[in-house]
Amino acid sequence: MTLQEGKQRDALLASYGFGLFPVLHYQPARRGEWTIANHLPAVGDGYLTRAVVEERVVLSRGRHVWMSIGLLEKESHAWHVHCANGTVVTAGLGLGMFAYAAAMKPEVERVIVAEIDPDIIELMQQSSGFHSWPWREKVEILQVDALAADFADAVKAQTRGRSVDYLYADIWPNFPAEEAPAQTGVMARALKPRAAGWWGQELSFAGFCRARQQRLDEAGFRAFFAENGVPVPEVTEGYLRFCRDLMAAYRLGSKDTLVQRLRNFLAG
Ligand SMILES: C[S@@+](CC[C@H](N)C(=O)[O-])C[C@H]1O[C@@H](n2cnc3c(N)ncnc32)[C@H](O)[C@@H]1O
Repeated sequence: MTLQEGKQRDALLASYGFGLFPVLHYQPARRGEWTIANHLPAVGDGYLTRAVVEERVVLSRGRHVWMSIGLLEKESHAWHVHCANGTVVTAGLGLGMFAYAAAMKPEVERVIVAEIDPDIIELMQQSSGFHSWPWREKVEILQVDALAADFADAVKAQTRGRSVDYLYADIWPNFPAEEAPAQTGVMARALKPRAAGWWGQELSFAGFCRARQQRLDEAGFRAFFAENGVPVPEVTEGYLRFCRDLMAAYRLGSKDTLVQRLRNFLAG
């Protein structure tokens, strides 16, 4: 971890109670339509933090960027890495960033990755030196469509009946994907994990609060997840603060009338 990465991890941890996580190094590689490239330092935004100068590892399909390991991906995955424990299932391998970070946690026993595209599986393994990851033995990669009927059976064959402690869904190139809450609900109904989440959920949640004139608090979070059939993780005050700060940063704040704002203020 560089000095800059260490400061970013500590800043997130101090503000919200969960920090950044270790990331891999990648060799440039190409397979089918997909490429992994290391980009020179440039200015870009994080998920919450604005305007950082950083090198990025970029995964593209043709000319279309699917993800790049920079502060945006790290800040938007940090909560899910924090929630990972016991048996973890993640939908969408990408660069294996989440799978690696989750496997590095002592409280995670195994990470099962569901990935639809065999080329991505080959590419990530080749580029990241998968076979020599420190906790390689915790990680299993399945080639399966996480939205298909055989997803749960494929996972069950690996867990041998053990329940899933955390499901993290990230199968979309953009956030917040409109279909992400409902599709995570489909995966959660199939797998029945104890808790789940998806990439960009904070912005979907902020949009839900705005549309419903709902306060951004734990009750609102529970209502939003229940509506989509997604089991909630243990929500901390720090995480709700993270959601509120994102809501403000993306200007997704509620359309409260003056009277409603005053009521909210008086209710504390
Ligand atoms: C943005 S990447 C995931 C990044 C990953 N979270 C990481 O930490 O590196 C999205 C991945 O989802 C995969 N994908 C898309 N649709 C899928 C589906 N229905 N089932 C499983 N994987 C899918 C894509 O091929 C791609 O590898």
